Amino acid sequence: MATTAKLELDGKTVELPIVIGSEGEKAIDISKLRASTGFVTLDSGYMNTGACTSAITFLDGEKGILKYRGISIEELSDKVSFIECSYLLIYGHLPNQTELKNFREGIKYHSLIHEDMKNFFNTYPSHAHPMAILSSMVCSLSAYYPELLKPDQTEEEKNGTITRLISKVRVLAAFAYKRSVGHPFVYPKNELDYVQNFLHMMFAVPAEPYQMDPVAVKAINLLLILHADHEQNCSTSTVRMVGSAKANLFASLSAGICALWGPLHGGANQEVLEMLEAIHADGGGYKKFLDKAKDKNDPFKLMGFGHRVYKNFDPRAKIIKKACDDVLQKLGVNDPILEIAKGLEETALKDPYFIERKLYPNVDFYSGIIYRALGIPTNMFTVMFAIGRLPGWIAQWKEMIEDPQMKICRPRQIYTGQTNVKFVPIEKRS
Ligand code: SDX
Repeated sequence: MATTAKLELDGKTVELPIVIGSEGEKAIDISKLRASTGFVTLDSGYMNTGACTSAITFLDGEKGILKYRGISIEELSDKVSFIECSYLLIYGHLPNQTELKNFREGIKYHSLIHEDMKNFFNTYPSHAHPMAILSSMVCSLSAYYPELLKPDQTEEEKNGTITRLISKVRVLAAFAYKRSVGHPFVYPKNELDYVQNFLHMMFAVPAEPYQMDPVAVKAINLLLILHADHEQNCSTSTVRMVGSAKANLFASLSAGICALWGPLHGGANQEVLEMLEAIHADGGGYKKFLDKAKDKNDPFKLMGFGHRVYKNFDPRAKIIKKACDDVLQKLGVNDPILEIAKGLEETALKDPYFIERKLYPNVDFYSGIIYRALGIPTNMFTVMFAIGRLPGWIAQWKEMIEDPQMKICRPRQIYTGQTNVKFVPIEKRS
């Protein structure tokens, strides 16, 4: 394999270094392109542009492979807890007994939010979308830790911020839910593990403690692991973009939550359920909806289908689809929406429109069916995605700020507007 790429430009030949990743991914390093040619590259939506090198997550869209720190999600989702997986993503290796104990202790110790923050929740209208609340609350947390906002933190300060955010994101999410249903906030209990505590804070009520269901705990643990990281997706790129300005981790994660909210990204899991419910309400026929998805004049898309990188099955969707059957059967839930989802998938995967465009179910297609079976409301689905993705965002932010070569992200552009426009005073403007 050549070590440089030759570019013929204006009669000159420019040689650009070739970069090969540890899994064989190939790139042309254009960092010297503008200085040596005056040209920049143009790549709308960054379809062909690598923003960084990273040692955290590898995915192969053609082969449907996803690995965190070199370990497949099939193995991780079956053998570790979400907290172990979070430690792996953030610190680069699975924790030993002592590391895991200390990490868990830190998460347990930092699970409360300042009592004053309860006032923030109570000023939101009850119909406020929980993603709006979560993004603002994560950023507002920073007000209580002024000592953790300076850009160059010590390892201890950084780890303290990380542990606090991983622990408190559950409280903020559960409090947002409780606010929306008008129930009193439920405080974390130290004897519960990460997922158990989240379910307790979500569903316990003063008159009735939550009956911890191991099926639900296992299902949430699985879903959080499968959502934990996904290389340079839209929201992770947002976290890196904001963090590259040396904005603090609270602000960077808050921005990532906002990006994830988008219906083309993490917001799709809510849109999928609403789409499936619409199909169900319409009598359960798929044809009308598939025709709409294929109609260029119709903005409707088959939500939960397609992916920028996976041009084969999203490996996460395969695992979640299998878990759907398992969890609903164990919970004794018979949800017609699951059968509609399976039928829709089967029909779409035989349709030339979807086959030609290599559109398969993605991580969002089946996840909401499990959340719904667990009693989590549809508008909380993307919050669940954010809780899962938090360690991935943190790992990516940490990798970036610890890179001595880190630069502020500042893409270039090609200007296509008017040139040399004559100034007209207001009295002479038509
Ligand atoms: C996530 O990047 C990540 O890793 C994201 C994520 C993560 O873990 O962080 O995996 C999480 O965001 C998953 C994706 C969730 N979004 C959805 O399910 C929304 C529906 N999907 C589409 O909006 C779309 O597939 C995207 C946004 C996911 C990908 O869009 P691309 O890569 O820009 O592809 P495209 O829009 O250019 O589509 C290519 C063609 C187009 O048709 P043509 O113009 O070639 O005729 O496929 C069509 C699109 O119209 N198409 C769809 C479709 N998705 C793509 N047509 C109907 N329904 C769809 N869902």
